[in-house]
Amino acid sequence: MIAEEIEDSPRKPCLAARELSAFFGRSRVVSNVTIDFRDREVTAIIGPSGCGKSTLLRCLNRMHETAPGATVSGTVTLDSTDIYAPGADPIAVRRHIGMVFQRPTPFPTMSISDNVTAGLKILGRKAPRGKDAEDIVEGALRHAGLWEEVKDRLGESAIALSGGQQQRLCIARALAIRPRVILLDEPTASLDPLSSQKVEELVYQLKQDIAVVIVTHNLQQAARVSDRTAFLLLGDLIENAPTNTLFTAPADPRTEAYITGRFG
Ligand SMILES: Nc1ncnc2c1ncn2[C@@H]1O[C@H](COP(=O)(O)OP(=O)(O)O)[C@@H](O)[C@H]1O
Ligand SMILES: [Mg+2]
Repeated sequence: MIAEEIEDSPRKPCLAARELSAFFGRSRVVSNVTIDFRDREVTAIIGPSGCGKSTLLRCLNRMHETAPGATVSGTVTLDSTDIYAPGADPIAVRRHIGMVFQRPTPFPTMSISDNVTAGLKILGRKAPRGKDAEDIVEGALRHAGLWEEVKDRLGESAIALSGGQQQRLCIARALAIRPRVILLDEPTASLDPLSSQKVEELVYQLKQDIAVVIVTHNLQQAARVSDRTAFLLLGDLIENAPTNTLFTAPADPRTEAYITGRFG
């Protein structure tokens, strides 16, 4: 494993989990997961419903602990800094590790442009104004592939947008904070095929700059968009390999059973 890792990617991980476990009360739903996420790579997390994909993702930016009774053990480092160190500020962590959820979550009473800058305000930055705000909005919307579709209606309500546009708006909101890593939890699960395709193209663009972690139960999507794929089963990380290897020559019989559709 170590030899293979060195061989297939010389890049240093920017985000790394070591012996990471997540609990709801006494029930452990993620068990001792050790995994690296690298800059300019897309890592897909696959596995059957309820296997802990969302929970694992939410541990990576300290969102898990916001649920009642939820706890974490193990470590997660971002550029060698332990995000769970005593005194580490979860808000500061989320400033570097953005997240997008399964259903688009635009702020319904806000305009398109205010939705983009909202992330900055929530995370305690000074609200950008005037030309600064315009530049941030345009940059994030361009990055999210939405600029051309909305540039003439930035002041209009975000809920007038289609589901696919709303999801790209949420991605723009996450990008406006200029994160090191973006976490996408089944970002196309509620979208039509054309909108899904746009989000997949966007994932490809995003990895030119940052690390992307995408949870999906769609195996074809994982195969299309990711460089590496991690297979999770009942909270255990069964296999983590270059995507092509995982789908063509899985090392573990449970991975093979899953990708050939024998369960899940
Ligand atoms: N808020 C919660 N309280 C208690 N258990 C939860 C909560 N959220 C999820 N779980 C449980 O944790 C396990 C993992 O869930 P989740 O991470 O959402 O899986 P996935 O994203 O792979 O479908 C499941 O058994 C689920 O029922
Ligand atoms: Mg989930």
